[in-house]
Amino acid sequence: MELKELEEQLMGCESCNFRKDCFAPVGWYGNPESPIVFVGEGPGGVEDEYGCPLIGPSGQLLDKALWAAKMTRDRVLTTNVIKCRPKNNRTPDIAEASHCAKLWLEKELNIIQPKVVVALGGVAMHFLGNPDMRITRDRGQWFRTEQGFDCIATFHPAYLLRLSGRELVKAKWDVYYDLVAARERAEKFAPEYNFMSEEATKLFTIFKKRY
Ligand code: URA
Repeated sequence: MELKELEEQLMGCESCNFRKDCFAPVGWYGNPESPIVFVGEGPGGVEDEYGCPLIGPSGQLLDKALWAAKMTRDRVLTTNVIKCRPKNNRTPDIAEASHCAKLWLEKELNIIQPKVVVALGGVAMHFLGNPDMRITRDRGQWFRTEQGFDCIATFHPAYLLRLSGRELVKAKWDVYYDLVAARERAEKFAPEYNFMSEEATKLFTIFKKRY
């Protein structure tokens, strides 16, 4: 199956209660040939409005961090564990995350076959790794997902947006080094691949409001 076909199926998904409270599912964005895939938590309000993962405040910070680590959004692929925005942006629990991810994220990864997966924050790390992992302890360490992909977790950009002062500076450097490590590992497996366009990707010109 191709990603296009999977996306059509995703748009018709009504398999859990999250679907009733959002405008529509949010799929993935980027280059399906990318050897690196970034997995966030789930859409927030801006993502639901535009139908693009990580396009709101968290996504904008992610884009800056990617640029610093020599990657642009059009050259990598970004997606989420959860496809429908939970009401009031509630954090999904592990059962909710697995239910959605088994239906969609696992299939995406199966089609894309990335060399490296980056888990952005705890929800993605708990699904791709295991629920006993802790982001503050385990970020920056490589592990193998159940599907057999090399994965590294880093802080979610929304977490950085809540920090300030020295804590923020330290966390930003941690994310920077995690992203560089992820890119370098992907580069080893795909030395010809170009991870960066000349310009940052303008997501708001690519995606228009859905409602
Ligand atoms: N937006 C997303 O698409 N994913 C997140 O994890 C957070 C905000």
